[in-house]
Amino acid sequence: MYDLHGETVHFDTENNRLLLLDQTELPQKTVVLALQTREEMFEAIRKLRVRGAPAIGVAAAIGLAVLANQSVQTTVPAFITEVRENAAYLNSARPTAVNLPWALGEMEKVLNSGAKTVETLKAALTARALALHAADIEVCRKIGENGVPLLKNCRAVLTHCNAGRLATVKYGTALAPIYTAKAQGQEIAVYADETRPLLQGARLTAYELYEADIDVTVICDSAASYVLGSGKVQAVLVGCDRVAANGDTANKIGTSGVAVLAHYYGVPFYVCAPFSTVDFSCASGADIPIELREETEIGELWFRQKMLPDGVRALNPAFDITKADLITAFITEKGVIAPKDLAQYR
Ligand code: MRU
Repeated sequence: MYDLHGETVHFDTENNRLLLLDQTELPQKTVVLALQTREEMFEAIRKLRVRGAPAIGVAAAIGLAVLANQSVQTTVPAFITEVRENAAYLNSARPTAVNLPWALGEMEKVLNSGAKTVETLKAALTARALALHAADIEVCRKIGENGVPLLKNCRAVLTHCNAGRLATVKYGTALAPIYTAKAQGQEIAVYADETRPLLQGARLTAYELYEADIDVTVICDSAASYVLGSGKVQAVLVGCDRVAANGDTANKIGTSGVAVLAHYYGVPFYVCAPFSTVDFSCASGADIPIELREETEIGELWFRQKMLPDGVRALNPAFDITKADLITAFITEKGVIAPKDLAQYR
């Protein structure tokens, strides 16, 4: 087994490999993948072996560095062309999480640095990928610290999908305040929406919280109104894939419904967001591309037999938009920010 050093995504620089915890195998098996080809990297992102906006971004940056280090190009222009082609290919794996183009954009800055040799560029790309990996850990740690004061009177929270350590390099975004609270002696229980159709809540959030000895209870997505309405939770914490300039937020399909319910029941709804997830080029949620995935994820994946009658269609949007006015605040590495104040950080 390859050593992930307690992380979800890791750069094995010694052997020039991208290491990933294969999340499609969880919770049954712990399988670590060592990737070296661009097709494997694309497939891992597309098939959600690595998933969660920050983890996808870091994985793509490391993947790009791994591919760059394998290059046999001898001139700087040919090398840069090859790296850009690989970046465009990896970027096309999934459309909604802006962390993917953001991280690849950070790698592109290295290509524009004026380096004179291919070897210098290779070293600089490796260094940048390692820096993005380290920054993700630090940013999530800060989100955890900044979120805890908001949860002072919370006994339990509701979360949707998985925005925990599995969705980032290490601490997670939405679950980071829960981990930090625990480290400070405050136990906060978590209700996790199972999160149809791919069950990131049931398979991943439940797995990582249980492993961390945090009280976790899984509910059907359709039980969110019951849980919010019966006073079982005092806050909702979710992650996000892209935040528009006006605060509209894309996250896993079903999030906007939870936000509407939280608003109705008067429960604060917090979006935990590293600034790498804010996309000021999108004026509102209407500009955020929503991934549409295969119908088979709804119709055939989880039941013993195919669930849908033959010929019946399924619609499978992977994300939805939560309107800014349903969001109490963003918990970021720079502090807690009201949606209306987001534009000040442009
Ligand atoms: O399709 P997924 O599993 O990649 O969707 C993930 C989410 O929606 C997460 O909430 C989001 O990426 C934030 S992860 C810190």
